[in-house]
Amino acid sequence: MCGIVGYIGNEQAAPILLDGLAKLEYRGYDSSGIAVRDNNEDTVVIKAKGKLSELAEKTDNGSAVKGCCGIGHTRWATHGAPSETNAHPHVSNDRSVIAVHNGIIENHTEIREKLLRQGYVFRTQTDTEAVVNLIDYYYKKYNIGPIDAIAKTMVRVRGSYALAIMFSDYPGEIYVARKDSPLIVGITENAAYTASDVPAILNRTRQVYYIGNLEMGRLTAGNVEFYNLDGDLIEKELTTIDWDAAAAEKGGYEHFMLKEIHEQPKAVRDTLHAYLKENGKGNTVNLEKTGISEEEIRACSQLYIVACGSASHVGYTAQYIIEDMCRIPVRVEMASEFRYRRPPLVRDGLVVIISQSGETADSLAALRHAKEEGLKTLAIVNVIGSTIAREADYVMYTYAGPEIAVATTKAYSCQLIACYLLAIAFGKARGLVTEECVSEYLEELETLPDKIARILEDKERIQWFASKFANAQDAFFIGRGIDYAVCMEGSLKMKEVSYVHTEAYAAGELKHGTISLIEKGTLVIGVLTQSEIYEKTLSNMVEVKSRGGYLMGLTMSGNFNLEETADFTVFVPKTDELFAASLAVIPLQLLGYYIAVARGQDVDKPRNLAKSVTVE
Ligand code: M6R
Repeated sequence: MCGIVGYIGNEQAAPILLDGLAKLEYRGYDSSGIAVRDNNEDTVVIKAKGKLSELAEKTDNGSAVKGCCGIGHTRWATHGAPSETNAHPHVSNDRSVIAVHNGIIENHTEIREKLLRQGYVFRTQTDTEAVVNLIDYYYKKYNIGPIDAIAKTMVRVRGSYALAIMFSDYPGEIYVARKDSPLIVGITENAAYTASDVPAILNRTRQVYYIGNLEMGRLTAGNVEFYNLDGDLIEKELTTIDWDAAAAEKGGYEHFMLKEIHEQPKAVRDTLHAYLKENGKGNTVNLEKTGISEEEIRACSQLYIVACGSASHVGYTAQYIIEDMCRIPVRVEMASEFRYRRPPLVRDGLVVIISQSGETADSLAALRHAKEEGLKTLAIVNVIGSTIAREADYVMYTYAGPEIAVATTKAYSCQLIACYLLAIAFGKARGLVTEECVSEYLEELETLPDKIARILEDKERIQWFASKFANAQDAFFIGRGIDYAVCMEGSLKMKEVSYVHTEAYAAGELKHGTISLIEKGTLVIGVLTQSEIYEKTLSNMVEVKSRGGYLMGLTMSGNFNLEETADFTVFVPKTDELFAASLAVIPLQLLGYYIAVARGQDVDKPRNLAKSVTVE
């Protein structure tokens, strides 16, 4: 969950490192640090507790630090509290080895004990310090080069890591290594970069290598060599990143979250169009580029959707749609539970992993477990070249572009679209959705981007409502079926950015306990887009109202009688009810956002969170 950068070239390194870290701050932001070397001088290490701005202030935005080779880190604490001491980079006892690390070393205590017996001392509570000293230990004990010392360490440690390492004996070089935590290398004629994620180096280069699991790299100015665990040189493919660099900037919006909410019409359209094909009679779903065949779809008897957080909320929505449209049983599992519960899996089932980052540790572990069990896996992923995308049998990319705000919005919306398309493709392959229905569904999906844009045009109304409830202590989201799945997302969105306590309830469940929490003025948001269960949810809202709850109702245009019950009503344009989540979620994203802004929270970087959760 931490962010790593490294630079070697002929420019001053520190400003480049700080600039890269600023783009990675979404990965962690409780402390930061850089280590920079000026030719043969000793390496300076500067750290600061708190946001990156503290480090920028300490170093005059990097300009006060001389040297053209360095590594940097922004931290999301796992071992050891956020503090200047525990901030990275970490140094070996005699400063021969300096490193930054993202991941968790599971056997760090055992390694510490081993090194203590060898006379090493430890100054921090981090697992990283154990790795740095272990590299140093092997480097000296066996009198070997950096690659061999790192390889020996990789064999000895358990857990996940992306490492950028400097050796005092090798002034013009940076070494990198990874297992299960992301790390890339960027290259230009005169420089080499390393980073946890593409946006960190996008304004410097678009030529990128993805480092594979258990691989290492040696970076020099303008060059990089890759090695396997045996220390043999390996060839890697250079990828050209074609993202728009502006897409990773705020572009005039106050926050990335608001910008990304507004990018949804385009993101949804791009994702939809990536999987459509004209067949003479109109559009049809084309999953060719995912790699899955129609025969495989037809042979599949069960779907397991495995994901975390918002991505799992997409899974719950998909469950209602796929079961309804395709009559295939769908089980949705939280990846963190799935990986240890080890449920019996049917052999002709397909495991669908949904992940924006493609690096979420639990989702990755679930994918690997499914593969070990002999099942085929399909990943719905946003980040190109991410670990989940590379390891899955089939990949269905979403086209949200880089998502920076910790709270997901546009990636969630694109994942929904991907699931709708899967549902249609499965329904058609299994003979349950006719060609005519496919065309109708796709025509309806084509209207979603404009409908989302229309909802966004009316955002001030939500902003006004949010300002009234900025001091709310609690909020409850209730709905049934697909509406319940939307409630889960609305609830998470609000709590993660505004810190208001929220809960999502299946509306019919409320009276089995939770309704005791409703008192005069408690905010209850009812979502009612499904006509078959509309009256049922409405009754549940009336029950809440008669206990003093303040009601916000969210429904589709035409259901005007909701205004008689709700104190504040939001209408979204009409759409096929199966796709209603795509519209209903937008006002809820805005509500969470505006309540957070009204409460003065750090919307893009909520406390205690990180964008990419690479620890379990
Ligand atoms: O990168 P992933 O989609 O795998 O991330 C999964 C969750 O960590 C993520 O959706 C998280 O819940 C978001 N912060 C919610 O806004």
